[in-house]
Amino acid sequence: MAKLSLLATLLTVFFIPSSCCPDEQRQALLQFKSNFYSFFISNSSFDSSTFGLESWNSSLDCCAWERVVCNTRSPLKPVIALNLDSIVLMQSSEPMLVTSSVLTPLFRVKSLMLLDISSNYIQDGIPRKGFANLTKLVYLDLSQNSFNGSIPLELFRLSFLRYLYLSSNSLEGVLSPEVGYLQNLRTLRLDENFLGGDIPREIENLTKLQNLSLRHNEFSGGFPSSVLQLKELEELDLRENLFSMQIPGEIGKLSNISTLALGKNKLTGVIPTSVQNLSKLETLELENNMLSGEIPSWLFHMKALKNLFLGGNNLTWNNNLKIVPECMLSKLSLKSCGLAGTIPEWISTQKSLDFLDLSNNKLEGFFPPWLAEMEVGSIILSDNKLTGTIPPRLFRSLSLSVLALSRNTFSGELPANIGDANEIMILMLAENNFTGPIPTSIANIYRLLLLDLSGNRFSGNTFPAFDPEALLAFVDFSSNELSGEVPVTFSRETKILALGKNNFSGSLHKNLTTMSQLEHLDLHDNHISGEFPEFLSEIPTLQVLNLRNNSLNGFIPDTIYNLSYLQILDVSSNSLVGSIPEVLGDLIGMTETPNTLSSVSDVFTFSIEFNDLLVNWKNSIQGLSSHSLVIYSLLDLSKNQLSGEIPASLGHLKDLKVLNISNNKFSGSIPESFGNMDSLESLDLSHNELSGSIPQSLSKLLQLGTLDVSNNKLWGQIPVGGQMNTMNDPNFFANNSGLCGMQIRVPCPEEPSPPKTQDSERKETWFLWEGAWIGFPIGFFLSVLIIFLTGYLVPAPPPNRRRQRRRSISNFY
Ligand SMILES: *[C@@H]1O[C@H](CO)[C@@H](O)[C@H](O)[C@H]1NC(C)=O
Ligand SMILES: *[C@@H]1O[C@H](CO)[C@@H](O)[C@H](O)[C@H]1NC(C)=O
Ligand SMILES: *[C@@H]1O[C@H](CO)[C@@H](O)[C@H](O)[C@H]1NC(C)=O
Ligand SMILES: *[C@@H]1O[C@H](CO)[C@@H](O)[C@H](O)[C@H]1NC(C)=O
Ligand SMILES: *[C@@H]1O[C@H](CO)[C@@H](O)[C@H](O)[C@H]1NC(C)=O
Ligand SMILES: *[C@@H]1O[C@H](CO)[C@@H](O)[C@H](O)[C@H]1NC(C)=O
Ligand SMILES: *[C@@H]1O[C@H](CO)[C@@H](O)[C@H](O)[C@H]1NC(C)=O
Ligand SMILES: *[C@@H]1O[C@H](CO)[C@@H](O)[C@H](O)[C@H]1NC(C)=O
Ligand SMILES: *[C@@H]1O[C@H](CO)[C@@H](O)[C@H](O)[C@H]1NC(C)=O
Ligand SMILES: *[C@@H]1O[C@H](CO)[C@@H](O)[C@H](O)[C@H]1NC(C)=O
Ligand SMILES: *[C@@H]1O[C@H](CO)[C@@H](O)[C@H](O)[C@H]1NC(C)=O
Ligand SMILES: *[C@@H]1O[C@H](CO)[C@@H](O)[C@H](O)[C@H]1NC(C)=O
Repeated sequence: MAKLSLLATLLTVFFIPSSCCPDEQRQALLQFKSNFYSFFISNSSFDSSTFGLESWNSSLDCCAWERVVCNTRSPLKPVIALNLDSIVLMQSSEPMLVTSSVLTPLFRVKSLMLLDISSNYIQDGIPRKGFANLTKLVYLDLSQNSFNGSIPLELFRLSFLRYLYLSSNSLEGVLSPEVGYLQNLRTLRLDENFLGGDIPREIENLTKLQNLSLRHNEFSGGFPSSVLQLKELEELDLRENLFSMQIPGEIGKLSNISTLALGKNKLTGVIPTSVQNLSKLETLELENNMLSGEIPSWLFHMKALKNLFLGGNNLTWNNNLKIVPECMLSKLSLKSCGLAGTIPEWISTQKSLDFLDLSNNKLEGFFPPWLAEMEVGSIILSDNKLTGTIPPRLFRSLSLSVLALSRNTFSGELPANIGDANEIMILMLAENNFTGPIPTSIANIYRLLLLDLSGNRFSGNTFPAFDPEALLAFVDFSSNELSGEVPVTFSRETKILALGKNNFSGSLHKNLTTMSQLEHLDLHDNHISGEFPEFLSEIPTLQVLNLRNNSLNGFIPDTIYNLSYLQILDVSSNSLVGSIPEVLGDLIGMTETPNTLSSVSDVFTFSIEFNDLLVNWKNSIQGLSSHSLVIYSLLDLSKNQLSGEIPASLGHLKDLKVLNISNNKFSGSIPESFGNMDSLESLDLSHNELSGSIPQSLSKLLQLGTLDVSNNKLWGQIPVGGQMNTMNDPNFFANNSGLCGMQIRVPCPEEPSPPKTQDSERKETWFLWEGAWIGFPIGFFLSVLIIFLTGYLVPAPPPNRRRQRRRSISNFY
């Protein structure tokens, strides 16, 4: 880090122990400490020994305090560096926002050259006048706070400033032209703010700039030609902005550049040939733009090149090209670049390769033995046409941490030694043609976080028994041929367990509840028997519970009320009896969209230096919106033997989109309260014994697209108004006891006639049953089911959380 080396320089130049700092500076620092403490003393029980400021006390010379560096060469011994990063972070798990006024005393220490107050949850605007005082600053790090407002011009008048870090705040506005005053600036990092517009021309006045990062802002328009004047530039990071233009040929003038990262913009055109003049280029990151043309072979002759990311463009690959690389790559992404034929053999010459992404091409043939021997950290070959078995050699790797081979046609059994690869964190083998048992040795992979074996032909009734302390959070074995009892020995950390579409039988084991953080349990389409597993209500984190199409009997227990985050409950096609518990109407997850849900997708944002490997697992592939879990709140109790009246409390489920209680034995009338389910899009009450008339309140349901009340004993006028006027499919009203209305072109008599006798009506029901079935909204159900089966879908995390998670995940590396 630049700071460390700068500090080291400052220290070697200046630091001689035992000296005394100016009294007014010591007072200022003590004032700062006391301001800082006051935030916490008044607010919570706090432990002052955790701030890292314990040594700051009146009895000592401030040059000897921790986090303080003085210039001991100067007779006054002024304070020149303050390392105040992460003092709040160290303090609590539940961080408190500190206001920027806490910094005020520091602005009296005018001799400061280095000030780092990063990662402190400081909020409010950046104090303008204060920083105007610190004219000697060379290094200023304000990143990872909650500063808002615009960047004060005063910062740009600090003429000695060389390193400026403002990343991860909530700053706004266009970069000020005044930045041009900072003639000594060497590093400018403004990433993850919300800056927009064009990069100001004046940036070219920063002639000493070496590192420029404007990552994750909203800069748009043309590529700033002013940036091309920065001759000293070593690192240019403009990722995640809105730049839309061609990469200019003049890029070749940045002769000192070693990192050029332009990914996730809207760049068009070809990779300019002048790039080959960048003899120091180590990292070229152009992923996820709209670049086109053939990938130039000279890229592989650039001797310094180490990291090449070209995926996600409209680039093409000349499959006849014979490449003799002169570079030694450590990371290579050529995803969706049109590669065909076998995996290119020249890759085997890249002995230090650590990351290889060739997904979404047209590659065929076997998994190359040389690749299995190369000790690559991440191998991503999903969405190709590769065949054959996986060489056991691969799992003797000491480096393999990500293996993604989903959606190929690999076959055969998984090597029994798979558990030897104990660095694997992500193993995705979905939708291949693997057979045989799931190797029990997988349980030895302690760092495994995600295991997706779905859509294969795995069989047998032996399973890896994972350590409860393991990290494994996501398990998908669905759509295989597994049998025996449902395995329950997974990690306590498990968040998603998907075992649907197998041949599991027997009753569920209570040990399932050891997964006390489970959010998503999917066991549909198996042969699970026994009573409804009441113990599931001991897992209050459940958001999705799918037990569809099993052989469960017994009642739906009242304790289901404990599952307050439940958004999807599907127990259809079982043999459940009894009535619907009243408390089902209190399920908060279906009443209001909880926004506190933990979010699965952020776990898959791995920071791999210049490529955020965004393993979106299922949802990106399905092309579904990432909001689906929030959108879909579903309650499906259909095809059971449930009876009794429908509790009016169901009307509380304001967030419910789909309610299906068809094919049961419910009697009584349709509750008036159904008119309160504001979000309802589909309501299926068919094939029950409901009587009375359809409540007029249903016309309040403005989202309603499907209403099926067929095969009941309803009578009277079908309500009019709102969406009810569009419900004109007679099949959805068929086989009742005298419904009328304009929707089905049956005029209502002045005085509605009483229902017909039981006998004749039952006959009629039976008679027309087949016909009604044809009209059943199969398409709709199918689509909900597909969303359900494939949609392990979680809302995108708010930027702040994502950032933090990324930090913590990167600790795994
Ligand atoms: C500046 O960029 C170079 C080249 O990418 C890098 O090695 C160095 O660590 C960066 N310095 C800072 C302070 O970010
Ligand atoms: C306690 O913390 C809140 C913010 O979390 C802050 O607004 C308040 O000023 C603090 N109290 C004191 C006495 O500093
Ligand atoms: C000041 O700090 C030093 C070192 O942490 C400690 O030894 C000393 O007792 C402290 N003095 C007071 C008055 O707190
Ligand atoms: C700037 O420094 C002077 C003298 O040390 C001090 O009086 C003043 O309060 C400082 N300004 C700010 C805004 O802190
Ligand atoms: C900055 O944040 C503070 C506290 O959250 C707020 O009062 C203030 O209005 C914000 N300023 C701007 C410019 O957004
Ligand atoms: C930038 O440099 C130009 C020419 O050297 C000069 O005219 C202009 O005033 C400078 N702008 C700033 C903001 O320093
Ligand atoms: C490029 O970098 C080298 C050493 O890193 C330095 O000596 C030189 O001044 C820099 N500038 C240009 C324009 O080459
Ligand atoms: C590369 O640099 C040489 C001289 O350094 C120059 O003649 C040539 O035009 C440059 N090539 C490109 C493609 O910019
Ligand atoms: C990709 O490039 C081809 C020609 O190479 C062009 O026909 C096609 O429209 C481009 N697609 C996009 C999305 O730009
Ligand atoms: C899977 O393997 C079986 C033979 O083991 C073969 O019949 C079948 O065609 C394969 N399926 C695919 C999609 O390759
Ligand atoms: C499913 O398991 C049952 C026994 O529980 C067995 O009789 C049946 O053959 C299995 N079906 C398949 C497709 O494996
Ligand atoms: C259930 O858990 C208990 C205690 O942890 C353990 O002894 C038992 O073997 C487990 N049973 C199954 C089927 O996993």
